[in-house]
Amino acid sequence: MQQSLYDFGLVGLGVMGRNFILNVADNGFKAFGHDLDPEKVNALREEGGDTARVDASVDQETFVRALSRPRKIMLLVPAGKVVDKVIEGLLPLLDKGDIIIDGGNSFFTDTDRREAYLREKGINFFGAGVSGGAKGARKGPSIMPGGSRDAYREVQPVFEAVAAKFKGEPCVAYLGPKSAGNYVKMVHNGIEYGLMQLTSESYALLKQAGGFSNKDLHEVFAKWNNGRLQSFLVEISAAIFIQPDPLGEGELVDKILDQAKQKGTGKWTSQNAMDLGIPIPSIDIAVSMREISALKAQRLAASKAYRRPEVVKMAASELEPLAEAALYFSFMMTYAQGMHQLADASREYGYDLELATIARIWRAGCIIRATLLEDITRAYTEDPALDNFLLSPLFIPKIQESAEAARTLVAYGATNGIPLPALANSLTYFDAYSSARLPLNLIQAQRDHFGSHTYERTDREGTFHTVWE
Ligand code: 6PG
Repeated sequence: MQQSLYDFGLVGLGVMGRNFILNVADNGFKAFGHDLDPEKVNALREEGGDTARVDASVDQETFVRALSRPRKIMLLVPAGKVVDKVIEGLLPLLDKGDIIIDGGNSFFTDTDRREAYLREKGINFFGAGVSGGAKGARKGPSIMPGGSRDAYREVQPVFEAVAAKFKGEPCVAYLGPKSAGNYVKMVHNGIEYGLMQLTSESYALLKQAGGFSNKDLHEVFAKWNNGRLQSFLVEISAAIFIQPDPLGEGELVDKILDQAKQKGTGKWTSQNAMDLGIPIPSIDIAVSMREISALKAQRLAASKAYRRPEVVKMAASELEPLAEAALYFSFMMTYAQGMHQLADASREYGYDLELATIARIWRAGCIIRATLLEDITRAYTEDPALDNFLLSPLFIPKIQESAEAARTLVAYGATNGIPLPALANSLTYFDAYSSARLPLNLIQAQRDHFGSHTYERTDREGTFHTVWE
């Protein structure tokens, strides 16, 4: 019998799937893949070399029969209907106790629905967010599993072996019941959107206000990446600025159309934050900016219809440290908002999340990995009940010290017509969050005036209504 041959199964042999399964095999587990596309199956068989170590088939039955029990089958297929289709295909071939892991960016309520549906059939199902792109999948991603703890224990040795390591610690941990894994990955992506938008705004500032060339930008980002801004996104940006255009003169970055696409995880993060009532304006605006970027024809028309202020250049030596500090400040605001959303979602959905654990498994492998996550890990380790690390004594001096640069540059951007919406939203968020009194008493008065919606008072308990003049 072939049945006990392979320890781990993977459906979906696209670039991510192939890289992930090869990573599993590299770590001493026998892995079997499945894809309906024979080219992808052949590509894996060729890359894998020894078929006793890693093999694949287009045939679902061959795939299922090749796996040891309980079968551990990971899906790395596009989120949405495809996941349901793959599950339906596998179901008749599986036995009670088998485990299906959805490694894609599935919407968390879909994961809950699938988990309940499969539980009735005796199949363990859980979502595990996987971050790190193709390279991460091959060399070590950050993995965010949720669902049944017992089912997770079955795959724990594989996940711990393949995950990225931060100072020897694997960047994977059981995060919580139900769809906790997919939820955390969704918020990871929301933060990713925020950091990417902020990085692009720093690029705009340095280029438009400081006249930095691509080579200068490379040097500045590389320098930043050696300091407190050290992060994957800053690191790859440094490299991007000097990548030559393979089809012409100069650098590729200048030839890339300024319309950013999206698959929806950032939007979901914003939508869900609205449902929870948690403010994440740095992430919201990052989603909106991808939408504005897509309106290229309208932007071109509007750029002709309106005059803009002439950009008054800033000395490079003055601008560079300001941009560094402002980016650091706004990165902190973005992580803070994402972590706050996780803290609230944990209560709302019963995930019982440990925020320190989440920050810890984001320190390597994933797209938002950054030195800053070491401080975030520390802040939540010191105070696990912390909702927002803006209130952490560890962060207060860092935020205080860098806020001034954000203030200077937001004002500069507004005066000079350089859009810096994520930086501006980060600063406004900070100013509002740290305001003892906001003008929203007037909103309450208006609500009561036109709709008798009532209000509370600052000087006594109770709910009041006034017959306004
Ligand atoms: C990751 C990424 C990944 C995501 C891409 C594209 O953690 O590896 O978040 O899961 O799919 O970044 O996302 P968008 O197409 O929405 O930009």
